[in-house]
Amino acid sequence: MVSRSKPKWKPDEDNILKQGWDGYWDQQDVSFVRRRDQYPGGGYPFAKDPHFPMVQRALAGLNGTRVILDAGCGSGQWVFYSGAKGHRAFGLDISSKAITKATALGRQQDLSCGFVLGDVRHMPFPSGMFDYVFSFGVVEHFSDTISALRESHRILRPGGRCLVTVPNIYSMKLISNFILKTLGKLPFEREDLYSPSKLSCGMQKAGFVDRGHGVLPSGYMLGSSPLLLPIIGDWLFGVFYRTSYFIESRQSRLGFLSYCIGEKIA
Ligand SMILES: C[S@@+](CC[C@H](N)C(=O)[O-])C[C@H]1O[C@@H](n2cnc3c(N)ncnc32)[C@H](O)[C@@H]1O
Repeated sequence: MVSRSKPKWKPDEDNILKQGWDGYWDQQDVSFVRRRDQYPGGGYPFAKDPHFPMVQRALAGLNGTRVILDAGCGSGQWVFYSGAKGHRAFGLDISSKAITKATALGRQQDLSCGFVLGDVRHMPFPSGMFDYVFSFGVVEHFSDTISALRESHRILRPGGRCLVTVPNIYSMKLISNFILKTLGKLPFEREDLYSPSKLSCGMQKAGFVDRGHGVLPSGYMLGSSPLLLPIIGDWLFGVFYRTSYFIESRQSRLGFLSYCIGEKIA
């Protein structure tokens, strides 16, 4: 008997993910991630990034030279920053284009950094190798988020920590992503939004003890897309930015970016 059910098309999520990010990184100009000495006063180019204070704090809490991983490192800015702070820093990314660009940038920086092509859901590192794992804007892009968080837990030593950020559902991103998706203009194949407490639950499911979760003040809660600028103009964009920042810095639920710090106990 001939089955009447339609053949199921199972998308190959891994290939879509890899090709999507290769296409993205192929088009990105990463020359802005330049050598530290090319900035006036040696200032760090990402000092205005909402992740910067958290990264600074995380590294300040470590004694001596430690082993750091940025899981889903993109152009490698946090790898270079960790390396510049004297740590042995690694970046891993699923996109060969990102790894090629980050490796080329690394050659200009004279830092102890390494870049590895790989998937955060099964990483080519031995258990317990790292003291700190960063992963910013990565695990929301595929369905098996918990596998990725478990992998970060596996490669940490007991007492090691992991700082994860994802876009927050309690922000304008909920509406803007819906519109972009409907118009077929979402730049990523998939981007799930997590409240800080949902991210914390995921981290705990993966084995971490929650050492703090909330929102990162970014100024983007009411709208982050530069596409807004021609519509609302500079002045109103500035008002959005300042209002967002004000709200994001005063509570732990509403904001553009959710974060969670997990610690591996054993
Ligand atoms: C939004 S970008 C963020 C890049 C970087 N973390 C940052 O904060 O600038 C997401 C990055 O995650 C990488 N990525 C997505 N899925 C991945 C996976 N399964 N394994 C490793 N990297 C992945 C992408 O190639 C991309 O570089």
